[in-house]
Amino acid sequence: MIILVGSQKGGCGKSTIATNISAALAVKGEDVMLVDADKQASSSNWFLDRSENPSLPKVHSIQKYDDVRASVIDLNERYEYVVIDAAGRDSIELRTAMIVANAIVMPIRPSQFDLDTVPRMQEIYNDARILNSNLKFKAVITMGPTNPVIHESDEAKSFFENYPDILLLKTIIRERKVYRDAINGGGLGVVEMTNSKAKKEINDLLSEVL
Ligand SMILES: Nc1ncnc2c1ncn2[C@@H]1O[C@H](COP(=O)(O)OP(=O)(O)OP(=O)(O)O)[C@@H](O)[C@H]1O
Ligand SMILES: [Mg+2]
Repeated sequence: MIILVGSQKGGCGKSTIATNISAALAVKGEDVMLVDADKQASSSNWFLDRSENPSLPKVHSIQKYDDVRASVIDLNERYEYVVIDAAGRDSIELRTAMIVANAIVMPIRPSQFDLDTVPRMQEIYNDARILNSNLKFKAVITMGPTNPVIHESDEAKSFFENYPDILLLKTIIRERKVYRDAINGGGLGVVEMTNSKAKKEINDLLSEVL
């Protein structure tokens, strides 16, 4: 299964989601290949840190740029799950990955600036669907406020009612320090740490994506 984590918005949490779902799959004993298709190399750096600790469940990783289709199709024959972290813009990596993926997961912060990018993502999705009619489009709210009096996540939910092709996942990934600690702390996933709320968020997200 090919899972693309993509958005044309920078900084919305793509690498955080891609690395965390990869780690969560590895913890479940699944064979996972994390493809870093962003020259910023955030996922590759996470993978290098993780590789220093051989006792962690194995995540494989590779960097692929430009037209990623052939490489991703080949990797999908060899690994049960291929997770792609694509650059945060309308890139050739994002577009070519969309042509071969089973699902695109678009992280979106509950802010107007992020929501403003959805119409363009819908257009890119429409283009990809011409060649990949089975492509599923899922959106996940990330960095949602943990303060219950802030209703930004609810506003984002009603926004998506205008986009019937996009399935807004029930899981909300909240703004939590543990997500930053997991990246800074040796290439971990939050499922390998002690914050049970974050752990549940990632496991719930994974069940909704698979
Ligand atoms: N749920 C979260 N809670 C707290 N911090 C988060 C969360 N998700 C992401 N971050 C932090 O926000 C920043 C951006 O996240 P990340 O690098 O995953 O986004 P990105 O979409 O991959 O960015 P880019 O477009 O630069 O590739 C990072 O510092 C990351 O640690
Ligand atoms: Mg990134």
